[in-house]
Amino acid sequence: MCGIVAYNGKSNAQERIIHGLEKLEYRGYDSAGIAVVDNGALKYVKSAGRLQNLKDKLEQNPVDGNCGIGHTRWATHGVPNEINSHPHLNTKEDIALVHNGIIENFSTLKEELIADGYTFKTETDTEVIANLLDKHYDGNLSSTVEKVISLLRGTFALAIISSRDPGTLVAARRENPLILGIAEDGVFAASDVPALLNYTRDVIYIENDEVATIQNDGSYSIRKFGEEVEKEIHHIEWSMESASKDGFDHFMIKEIYEQPKVLKDCLLRKVKNDFVDLGETSFTKEEILGFDKIYMSACGTAFHASEIGKRAIEDAIGKEVTAEIASEFKYNMPFLTENSLLIIVSQSGETLDTLTVLREAKDRGAKVLAITNVVGSSIDRESDKVIYCDAGPEISVASTKAYSTQLLSLYLLALDFGYKLGTYDKEFVTDIVKEFESLPEKVEKMFDSRDSIREIAKTIANKKSMFFLGRGLDYLSAKEGALKLKEISYINAVAMPSGELKHGSIALIEEGVPVVTLLSQMELFEKSISNIKEIKARGAYTIAIASEENSALRSVADEVILIPKTHDMYMPLLAVLPQQILAYETSVILGNDVDKPRNLAKSVTVE
Ligand code: G6P
Repeated sequence: MCGIVAYNGKSNAQERIIHGLEKLEYRGYDSAGIAVVDNGALKYVKSAGRLQNLKDKLEQNPVDGNCGIGHTRWATHGVPNEINSHPHLNTKEDIALVHNGIIENFSTLKEELIADGYTFKTETDTEVIANLLDKHYDGNLSSTVEKVISLLRGTFALAIISSRDPGTLVAARRENPLILGIAEDGVFAASDVPALLNYTRDVIYIENDEVATIQNDGSYSIRKFGEEVEKEIHHIEWSMESASKDGFDHFMIKEIYEQPKVLKDCLLRKVKNDFVDLGETSFTKEEILGFDKIYMSACGTAFHASEIGKRAIEDAIGKEVTAEIASEFKYNMPFLTENSLLIIVSQSGETLDTLTVLREAKDRGAKVLAITNVVGSSIDRESDKVIYCDAGPEISVASTKAYSTQLLSLYLLALDFGYKLGTYDKEFVTDIVKEFESLPEKVEKMFDSRDSIREIAKTIANKKSMFFLGRGLDYLSAKEGALKLKEISYINAVAMPSGELKHGSIALIEEGVPVVTLLSQMELFEKSISNIKEIKARGAYTIAIASEENSALRSVADEVILIPKTHDMYMPLLAVLPQQILAYETSVILGNDVDKPRNLAKSVTVE
């Protein structure tokens, strides 16, 4: 996720900004840059790769001055290189800005600006803001920013300077985080608290559509829709370590709680006017009809998302789709031909097993569509088409928010295919998209169960093994729940179809064995209830995760966690949450290294 640090005051801006960017490195980035107004002139330096590359360049050519902006970029539009890195400038190069977020209507704005004679150097959505500021400049940077943000759709945190208004720094936000830090020698604007802690613990949280104007003498004002707003100063008590996790104890739980936000971000670029719009990232009706077969391949959590995506795509196209674990598929893909489509799913975009399947498919002339979270990754570069998850960097090894956005992206792809082939009509797609738009609220509601899940985790923590059961899509969700638990608690967790347990594994059920059963699929509900009764009769500690209309389950299972309702097909998006929290709480109780579990790596680049 991009990191912003800006400063205006009495001291050297470069030093403070670079220090702040270093403290935001944990957020993940692929390039960095800085701009400063120095003696009335705008200077900037950018660099691809690590912050050290930028520091090396600045050592040769320092940017002096007391008013500046800095940025670490996590690519969302355009490959991660120096040109696309921030700050971005207007054509005349006298306004510079850094941006965190996604501008939804950037292509329309860009076309209008090109018609007005503006030229563009980068592939980013951000560059349009720089030229819009130029176009609407009214002699005052702050009021110009107020005007320009009213033209933007999407999300942003912005910090802006200009040699036309050399003593002023302007910062604004909508949905993306932005704070001011009030220090003795000046005022900071930043994405996150760690960037400031070395200089101040007094911060102001900027809210949506607020515009902060910071002058060189340390004075500042905050306006919203033209009206000045009074803001409270908060004193931060956190340590540096907990600040980088937004006050959460671990990145994993922070990322679990980010899911409502990233689901919104994931929809932002794939939906227009309540309708799925994947643009160039999808295929035409003729192309879809031309595929002899659709294959999907991935590893770990991404494979679990693929298995669910497979069901959604099959429903949309009315034909069988095959989902294969990449480390096996690469040895056995006899039927994949130049007429096939391969859908690859990977958070990191670098998993070698997955990449090997992709390369083999490309060698055979097949088309490859990737769903990945990392712009510029190998899988991104080598695929024919790419849908980005827009989950932001995932730091915890155990994948949580990436899984949810992989699922949502696959569901949207299925809707797109289904609409193009005539399986779904416009009204149906619109209804589902609206349902997706309401999901973040439902996910939020799930967090209310955290205390009761922690109580369950206390019982589970001293067990050696357990089961995760489900029927239909619930079985596929259960596989992800079991993997999460194994990864971070080191308790052996076996996922099984509920109906298969009786064919052997039930021999392992004895007094106290924990069994999580998922019951989110309405038509399979009765059958799963019978399974719970069967295992309870043999002494199991039964935990049911069920959709909310099934509260009667309380008389059947020992523990019941209720999840909000959506269409059965999309329930996996909600069913995964309590399982993620259960794995997390169990790992914490056991005192494990939650974010860096033993033997695991975030990106596995060996076969
Ligand atoms: C590793 C990680 C898993 C992840 C898998 C696939 O094994 O430990 O958490 O699900 O790789 O990673 P990818 O980046 O391709 O989604």
